[in-house]
Amino acid sequence: MQEGLQKSLLQSALKGRENAYAPYSDYAVGACLRCEDGAQYIGCNVENAAFGSSICAERTALCKAISEGKRRFTDIAIVGSGALPAYPCGACRQMLAEFGDLRVISANHDLSKVEVRMLSELLPLGFGKEALR
Ligand code: THU
Repeated sequence: MQEGLQKSLLQSALKGRENAYAPYSDYAVGACLRCEDGAQYIGCNVENAAFGSSICAERTALCKAISEGKRRFTDIAIVGSGALPAYPCGACRQMLAEFGDLRVISANHDLSKVEVRMLSELLPLGFGKEALR
């Protein structure tokens, strides 16, 4: 992929991380989801005193995009707060996989470590709509 695009998606995810509401874990995450038409949706994690009601940055970005009518995605950039690149949790992988494969760009807190994988590598043999037929 174009290096400039990857950098700009990571910068947007980093910006999104500034709005994270993570008073319980103190682990802020930002995500930037890119649509096939070039539109981008930024998300952050939003935690809750009822811990299980919290939502990850990736699903925030995905729900914003879906609610605006988008269905096709090419990339998601994720920036966590730790030393290691942030990979999407299982629930986020499942939610993203509903809409097909995409590139997952994972970065650590200061973007010094960036790793790129396809979602299909991160969620092989997942449950999908074909199984319901
Ligand atoms: N979190 C995300 O937002 N995305 C990830 O990829 C991993 C985890 C959030 C959930 C919770 O608010 C905090 O990070 C610690 O788990």
